Amino acid sequence: MMKKNIILIGFMGVGKGTTARAFAKKYGVYNIDTDDLIESKENKEVKRIFEKKGEAYFRTCEQQTADWIEKCVKSTLISCGGGFYKVNNLKKLGTVVLLDASFEWIHNRLKTAKNSKSKLAKRPLFSDEKKAKALYKEREKAYRKVADVIVDVEKLSLEEQLKYIAKKCGVN
Ligand code: S3P
Repeated sequence: MMKKNIILIGFMGVGKGTTARAFAKKYGVYNIDTDDLIESKENKEVKRIFEKKGEAYFRTCEQQTADWIEKCVKSTLISCGGGFYKVNNLKKLGTVVLLDASFEWIHNRLKTAKNSKSKLAKRPLFSDEKKAKALYKEREKAYRKVADVIVDVEKLSLEEQLKYIAKKCGVN
């Protein structure tokens, strides 16, 4: 049983979902995803929420989700949308773990993924590469600033990432 939640943050496409699912399986913990929580509550895909209600509305959904996690969720791995790190109570939610990689590495990962088209299609903020890169630049430092643990995913295999996160977060 984990003492604190693990809050997995990082840029779109860095592999938060993949790492979270593998971690949950290996260490027998529950894993929830903030985008999934928002989609289920709104009964709409993230892409549609952006189209129909706009980004500002989506950000209020993220804050509501953070408030719910703070009140109700314990001993859980929580993978977060790329902009979730901005919620005002992030540090109260658990140990913040950043999956870190360069923009080029992330872009290449998304482009060469088997389901590349669907991975890109569901991420409205990645539809324009230049804008996505600017967003990365804007967030890069802020991600590192809020992180308790930084995982260099370019250098570590998936298995190594899991072990590193477990060690840093006191999970065994
Ligand atoms: C966003 C990242 C997305 C999703 C939404 C906004 C962002 O999640 O929450 O499209 O602002 O970076 P992923 O990081 O899982 O792609």
